[in-house]
Amino acid sequence: MYLRFFTAGLFLVICLFPSHGESATAAGQRCTRVAPGVWRVRFGQPEELTPIKFQEHPPRLEAMEKLQPVGKIPIDPADIGFSTSGRGAALKVPMTENERFYGLGMNLRVFRLKGKKIVRVSDNQTTDLGDSHAPAPIYVSSRGYGVLVDTARCASFYFGNLSANRDSAADEKESRDRKIADGVEELYRPRGPGSMFVGVDVPAARGVDLFIFAGPDLRQAVQRYNLFSGGGFVPPMWGLGVWYRASAKLDQASVMNFLREFRERHIPCDVFGLEPGWHSGCYPCTFAWSKMFPDPDGLLGETKQLGYKLNLWEHAFTRGDSPLYKPLLSWSGDFKVWGGLTPDFATAEGRKIFSDYHAKNFVDKGVSGFKLDECDHQPLSSTPWSFPEHSRFPSGLDGEQMHLLFGPLYQRTISSIYRDRNQRTFGLVRSSGPLAAPLPFALYSDAYDHRDYVRAIATSGFAGVLWCPEIRAAGSVEELYRRLQTSVFSAVTQVDCWFLKNPVWKQINKELNNEDKFMDDWQRTEAVCRNLLELRMSLLPYLYSAYADYHNSGVPPTRALVMDYPDDPAVADLDDQYMFGPSLMVAPLFAGEKQRTVYLPKGDWYDFWTGEKHVGGRKIEVSKPVDQIPVFVKGGTLLPLAKPVEYVSLDTCFDIEVRVFGSAPKSFVLYEDDGTTFDFEKGRQNLWELSWDGKSGSVRKTSRFDGPTRYKIVGWKRAGEQ
Ligand code: GAL
Repeated sequence: MYLRFFTAGLFLVICLFPSHGESATAAGQRCTRVAPGVWRVRFGQPEELTPIKFQEHPPRLEAMEKLQPVGKIPIDPADIGFSTSGRGAALKVPMTENERFYGLGMNLRVFRLKGKKIVRVSDNQTTDLGDSHAPAPIYVSSRGYGVLVDTARCASFYFGNLSANRDSAADEKESRDRKIADGVEELYRPRGPGSMFVGVDVPAARGVDLFIFAGPDLRQAVQRYNLFSGGGFVPPMWGLGVWYRASAKLDQASVMNFLREFRERHIPCDVFGLEPGWHSGCYPCTFAWSKMFPDPDGLLGETKQLGYKLNLWEHAFTRGDSPLYKPLLSWSGDFKVWGGLTPDFATAEGRKIFSDYHAKNFVDKGVSGFKLDECDHQPLSSTPWSFPEHSRFPSGLDGEQMHLLFGPLYQRTISSIYRDRNQRTFGLVRSSGPLAAPLPFALYSDAYDHRDYVRAIATSGFAGVLWCPEIRAAGSVEELYRRLQTSVFSAVTQVDCWFLKNPVWKQINKELNNEDKFMDDWQRTEAVCRNLLELRMSLLPYLYSAYADYHNSGVPPTRALVMDYPDDPAVADLDDQYMFGPSLMVAPLFAGEKQRTVYLPKGDWYDFWTGEKHVGGRKIEVSKPVDQIPVFVKGGTLLPLAKPVEYVSLDTCFDIEVRVFGSAPKSFVLYEDDGTTFDFEKGRQNLWELSWDGKSGSVRKTSRFDGPTRYKIVGWKRAGEQ
């Protein structure tokens, strides 16, 4: 049943990871070098259906060769403990006393991994246990390596807080030396060299594959993981512009009014999203237009003419009166969700039925992408909406495994429609998992804590996923600005007003907004928001180049400082500042804060707004007016800043001024391609190398793409010059 689909996956795995010589260790594990700097260590009999089996994007072996060569596996497989029991498989991966760990997916709450963590998909991220919209069983270490445990099970990890039995003499000595614990922390502190391991508990499995990624530093371990996953995806250029979603209650005429008003009022917007109301029935979904949208073709036509891309909300649970119901019935799980079918996207058949329908009815008619909602679940609720762990699917997956894989499989189903048409898409998703870097989706959440949203920007970088800290409503205008600023400096800038009738800058309060009661000075608020959105548009060429880097070298466009400064102890726990592209460091302010402390790593830093120079390796106090966010530019940077456009079209050419920070800046490579197809993979791309000789700037262009030029360098300016 699922075999046709899977054999493709397995074929890929075997052919693309040429065995570099399998060797068996004394302890009996089989160790194979599967890619430059990546080893697979097999313990026991791994399960058949694991994340790696569903990998569709081949590892970017050539790009991996370009990373710093590492000849030796960073952890000796013989030092890894393995056992099985009726419960499943267990591992003990060695660690050292001061080692720090990050990862296990994107997380709103947990930055550095300590103690017990569970790899569990959950919409509820109020615990510090690791629950997440995008969990992934991969961690990276401050000692410069990463470990992926290839399982779709709800695995638990114990970072150095387990004490295993040892021989009696050692235990006897430790007990003799043990002092009465002074407080809870001391009581729970792991003791003795015997406890220095990462314990991994993989339920149900009789064995497991570990993929070990060499560094030699933390950042390169992440790069290797992303490249092994297939490399980060390059979004269509329009996807980096501004996204807006309006109330689920709007009908076609009101949507059109919105679209026209944005253009009339010069609000930058590239992607307009329709929420559940476009379906004739949602929860579960029909995937058919409702009566509120009597002329979808007309809507799509006008949307296109005004330069927007249309994005449609949906979830996969399929209603009885949907045209998809009957064909999907035998390719679905055995439990309904909200009364709808759960398609088994791990079967070729289930996937084809779903994607053929979407291709014909939406993609071929001009829909640019989808928002894939509700594909996470609620393990901590007594009334979870989703399928239970003991569900069974035609592919052979059970509910526990499907929860981890559902988001990624759903993303693959939708994105393959676009790939087949040589068209790039960019969408949103509420659940993702391991090996996700090539998937063209960003995560979002109903949680709405600004501080947590910033932490998620930092943690998404360890996980090969992108995070969209969207804006909905706000308690004050200041909060609206502060949230929007973070969003401008993130992977996707989206204002998600799915419950607001009017633009949020007209009225921040939900009730008043829906009663059409606007704030007295809403035009001022709108103007500040417009400026911020224009700032986003001016960053597009810089950000697009950062995404090209994600693809080519695996460096995530947004990431924690510890990735760029792995040896600086001051950034080990820093999760309220992050890197945006190669050279900008962002330190958001939160509503109510007049100023904040910002840590500047060693080197020179320049205030993005004033050009003022700061010497790094220390903390500084920073305050900014409500319409500015603290951003610092690394010394030695050439920063391309574009004159903002309202949206990106096929013939958009950005007028770029290059800002020069520091006396001897490094060159900057501006990436250019057609912005919409996958032809860049065949080399149809141009690299513009910007350089500065101390007095003037120059551009050297390597041309392999002869389409309309996207960039025009109109000037060079030293930081601080007016
Ligand atoms: C939620 C989703 C929101 C919005 C809403 C519409 O599940 O997280 O972003 O789309 O559904 O019903």
